[in-house]
Amino acid sequence: MKKRSLLLVILFGVLYCSQAQAQGLPAINIIPKPVSVKLKPGTFKLNGNTVLYVSNEAKETATAGFFASLIGNAGLKRLRLQDIPKDMKSVSNGIIFRFTLKGNIPPEGYVLNITPERIILEASEGAGLFYGMQSLIQLLPPEIYSVNKDRVNSQYSIPCMEIRDHPRFHYRGMHLDVSRHFFPKEFIKQYIDLIAMYKMNVFHWHLTDDNGWRIEIKKYPKLTGIGAWRVDHENDPWNKREPQKPGEPATYGGFYTQEDIREIVKYAGQRYVTIIPEIEMPAHCVEVLAAYPNLSCKGNQVTVPPGSYWPNTDIYCAGNDSVFIFLQDVLSEVIDLFPSEYIHIGGDEADKTSWTACPRCQARIKAEGLKDENELQSYFVKRIEKFILSKNRRMIGWDEILDGGIAPEATVMSWRGVEGGIAAARQGHDAIMTPEDYCYFDHYQALSSTEPKAIGGFLPLKKVYSYEPVPEELKADERKHILGAQGNLWTEFIPTVKQAEYMALPRMIALSEVDWSPKGKRDFLEFRTRLTPHLRKLDFMKVNYSPGSFKVDINTRFDQKTGKAEVILSSEQPGIPIYYTLNGNDPDSKSTQYTDPFDIKGNMVIKAGLFVDGNLKEKISERNFLFHLAVGKKIKYMSTWSERYPAGGETALIDGLRGSKDHHDGLWQGYLANDIDVIIDFGKEIPVTSVMATLLQNQKAWIFLPKYVEFSLSSNGKKWHSVNQVLNPVSPKEEQVFIQPFTQPFPSTPARYLRVTAKNYGVCPAWHEGAGQASWIFADEIVVY
Ligand code: ACM
Ligand code: ZN
Repeated sequence: MKKRSLLLVILFGVLYCSQAQAQGLPAINIIPKPVSVKLKPGTFKLNGNTVLYVSNEAKETATAGFFASLIGNAGLKRLRLQDIPKDMKSVSNGIIFRFTLKGNIPPEGYVLNITPERIILEASEGAGLFYGMQSLIQLLPPEIYSVNKDRVNSQYSIPCMEIRDHPRFHYRGMHLDVSRHFFPKEFIKQYIDLIAMYKMNVFHWHLTDDNGWRIEIKKYPKLTGIGAWRVDHENDPWNKREPQKPGEPATYGGFYTQEDIREIVKYAGQRYVTIIPEIEMPAHCVEVLAAYPNLSCKGNQVTVPPGSYWPNTDIYCAGNDSVFIFLQDVLSEVIDLFPSEYIHIGGDEADKTSWTACPRCQARIKAEGLKDENELQSYFVKRIEKFILSKNRRMIGWDEILDGGIAPEATVMSWRGVEGGIAAARQGHDAIMTPEDYCYFDHYQALSSTEPKAIGGFLPLKKVYSYEPVPEELKADERKHILGAQGNLWTEFIPTVKQAEYMALPRMIALSEVDWSPKGKRDFLEFRTRLTPHLRKLDFMKVNYSPGSFKVDINTRFDQKTGKAEVILSSEQPGIPIYYTLNGNDPDSKSTQYTDPFDIKGNMVIKAGLFVDGNLKEKISERNFLFHLAVGKKIKYMSTWSERYPAGGETALIDGLRGSKDHHDGLWQGYLANDIDVIIDFGKEIPVTSVMATLLQNQKAWIFLPKYVEFSLSSNGKKWHSVNQVLNPVSPKEEQVFIQPFTQPFPSTPARYLRVTAKNYGVCPAWHEGAGQASWIFADEIVVY
């Protein structure tokens, strides 16, 4: 193409884009965001006469049929399906579904070409065709999901474009715990529909846990006869439920028959969703021991707990071969039901007290030459893996399967942070990332006092969206072991379908983009705008979702060249105005309305809130900004902060923003086991008269003040002189949470560079609950005058 005509096409594309919006044509709100979308002139008119042309291979998939039935439900008559004519160019008012040569389009990818005459959807495999169809549906207005047919049109205009798309990660998962609360088959199908709608491809089905066994196993009928039922104490708080009393009937529960499971597996398969079943071992199995007490170390009779069961002391006996026979029998039936390559065996949170006291477990340790109970768990898991491999399947376990030595071919599901995933990848094992802080959708997603009861934590939509599954610690050749990310929905505090929807949505939609879209294409505020029609779609579908957080985020931005510092206010709620003050008073709907970033010129208190009809929606956000000489200057890190507490990342220590006593407030940078070691470059030599580092102690959260903070100055970055080591003046035993400044004033000294080193306290002391384990340092700012 000649350069000039290329320019014209680009220009036309840009003009068309805004024209499309102006004409009220559908905007491109596809989620997850495709790899590439090129708008073109014109529109395709979808109406009752549109024909779906399907190639022979594509007929083997249900994809065109899904499209036809959705359109049928949307008020158009059910579209006809026909063979593709020899000359595709003869097709007008048709949608062509076909396969192209393998290799032309990446795995699971598709090309969707929309012209005024026809739409051509191509992929090299069924999954790609299905995902292209999902994108095409998302180009139609949310009203197509309306049950009220008056709302729908007899014709839909789809803007012309070419989409080329494929996923970033092959593993894109959602988990659901059906043990803590049982969910009916119809909801499982709906959950799979939602997974598929957002191009995710794994449903991790947590089928067994202490509070109920949910899958029929023909050989062991008591698993569902007894293990699936508990006393109904649903009206008491989860953590305070009395165990079953003798004679008290167990009436709460349920399970899926093998017929149900086959139906659901087939349903998922047609939607390119693989179901990974999880059968928990060696712990989280009290419900099994209630049915078959001989499988525990002590063999005592237990009951299915109706609520919290902690610690997990009733576990399978690792010294009893009957346990392995039982588990192999169960897994054999599970493997027959689920075609999934992976089988999940749990492996988390086993309290091994009973193994320590059990003669059979101790005999096993001795006979197998194991060092301790951790190695006994490793023996247990390895033995199970051997069986799973013998059935030509692969094993996944929670990251505890690393303890005591990982099984040879296991895949690790990293949940206690990202460390398990890092360790697995470094050992050459695959990992699926589902760290609590970013992927546990049972956590609160807005201010807890305004939300239905949840287990705890705070995981707003924005934080899910910010998740980067590949830990930066990994080297290039280790990164391929990160298969993707998964959202987990544990259901201790989720008793109903409506609550499950509320907790999963819209966070799973945000995660779908983390898993699918190119990293560089992610932009939260743009995503949040694209999300709006999807929420409307959920309204039409009568699916519940959370309106999200109504908090205002207050951030700062620096231009290191000009030295200019700006405040940026944002929220998860596009369209709801933000009002703010800078004088310390609480804002109301008559305060200044935020439109654009504004300059910081000195110390200020920024207070902001979202107001609807004059009323504050959540609570006022507040940030104290301290203007000092290091604000916005260059900073070099010689040590690394923890991924779990990055605060503002590179600029956290010199952004002028002061933290509160809440170490989760997003302003505290956390260092696990590490020192803080940074060099600030003022850009030129300036007179320095005082330096201060502010640190937090919260020993109950394993956060200690450093042993000392050392300040050094230099004019060339090579020759340093230490101004002082400021020793920690406060006892580590101090129980209060407090912020401690480490300050060093001195006679005015010219310097260009300041080095600040804060020495980690070391491992938690003997009297502490974390005795012997790594401790944290938390810092929010290095203040220079
Ligand atoms: C887990 O959350 N116990 C895997
Ligand atoms: Zn035992």
